[in-house]
Amino acid sequence: MGRLGRLTVNKKIIKTPALLPVINPHLQIITPAEMRNMGVEALITNAYIFYQSDQYRDIVKEKGLHDLLDFDGAIMTDSGSFQLSVYGDVAITNTETLSYQRDIGSDIWVPLDIPTSPAADRATAERELEVTMERLREAREVFGDDAPIAAPVQGGIFTDLREQAGKEIAEMGFSFCPVGAVVPLMESYRYRDLLRVVMASKKTLSPASCVHLFGAGHPAMFAFAVALGCDIFDSAAYALYAKEGRYLTAHGSYRLSELSDLPCACSVCRSHTADEIKSSDDKERLLALHNLHATLAEISRIRLAVTDGTLWELVDERCRSHPQLLAAYREMLNHTETLEQHDRATKRRFFYRGDESCRRTEVLCYQEKLSRLRLGKNVIVVMGGERADGYDTVLRFKPPFGPYPQELAETFPIGQSEIPPWDESMVRQGCRGIRMLAESHKESRVTVACFRHWAAFVRDELPGIEVLADED
Ligand code: GUN
Ligand code: ZN
Repeated sequence: MGRLGRLTVNKKIIKTPALLPVINPHLQIITPAEMRNMGVEALITNAYIFYQSDQYRDIVKEKGLHDLLDFDGAIMTDSGSFQLSVYGDVAITNTETLSYQRDIGSDIWVPLDIPTSPAADRATAERELEVTMERLREAREVFGDDAPIAAPVQGGIFTDLREQAGKEIAEMGFSFCPVGAVVPLMESYRYRDLLRVVMASKKTLSPASCVHLFGAGHPAMFAFAVALGCDIFDSAAYALYAKEGRYLTAHGSYRLSELSDLPCACSVCRSHTADEIKSSDDKERLLALHNLHATLAEISRIRLAVTDGTLWELVDERCRSHPQLLAAYREMLNHTETLEQHDRATKRRFFYRGDESCRRTEVLCYQEKLSRLRLGKNVIVVMGGERADGYDTVLRFKPPFGPYPQELAETFPIGQSEIPPWDESMVRQGCRGIRMLAESHKESRVTVACFRHWAAFVRDELPGIEVLADED
């Protein structure tokens, strides 16, 4: 479900997937102008911080956010809902925060949604969702259909509430849709719950809407989230991690103190040694710069992977960096039928990386198409050996896909898939392809030829199909 997109706000165009760095006006460890030079097209800041600040409240109204922050890209503002979820209360109403965000010249405004805690029971989640939806309706009534208002999807961990919220938001015509209240899930590594919440929200939102995963800033999970159809991330992690002396990479983070070398190509890491950063007075800023570079590079890598059709490979690799991410990846494979509807027909390659690869969309999609093959009366699937004589149709075999005619040998996925020596998982999955072929061609008689050391295994997988065994 990963896709490339273009988000247009106030004539500014943002390529998605995109990362919006979080700016705190009081702590600009990296300035917005520096971020612009790093290729940042949009950032996010918290309108409530400006609103509450004697230093900034009025001056930002006069100068406008873009001038004040010295940033000519897009600026999204959050409402104060985050403070609401942390402190339980905020001194501003829904229409007040939206008016303020409008007045300071924000490009994307966020209403005062209620981020329901994952610990909330169903009655609470329902009640809070009703408040959020009412505020979205109010936002529409007061500010009109064309106001650049984001519509957060809430509902706690209840997937039916997320679906319901997504549906109502789609019906109201909102096109920028953050999935809300997921920070506590990510903080406690509950990536399977995250998967369920995102899949439920995506199910009913319009496919044309831009989906923002609110508060997701660790680059190790971006590829996974993009594969679920998320388009926008916002990161305070680059600064928060730096403050704690932590060094982000796309496959996890390190404590600076445990690094003897800097495994990164960014300008900071190439112009300093690990020891130099450790003893620098500028340590926090150098770390923040590296963290932001590493985060932005991962977004670029993801965009490239989507272009090439190698996002699965990237997801597979990244999800092995944390056991809970791997658990979520495996859970994602239970949703292949949904994912497959959005998948594309051809890709640059398919790299087999073990058991999980057997359940990828490309395998499912290939096997579904087997029913379209035209076969003669007597068909042989040659898994090994040379027994092609005397059959009307000769098919080859490539696990985990299954049987294929010679004419497809160089097309995707057969021709572009890299597989290691056969293992049982892939052969089992390939046999599923043979069964599907036989079941969809009852008028043909399918026989299989394989090497002797696979024969017992293959016979078990193909009841009712004759399996001939050849010398290895
Ligand atoms: N920041 C992180 N999560 C949320 C959320 O659910 N709503 C808003 N408005 N801001 C957030
Ligand atoms: Zn670096």
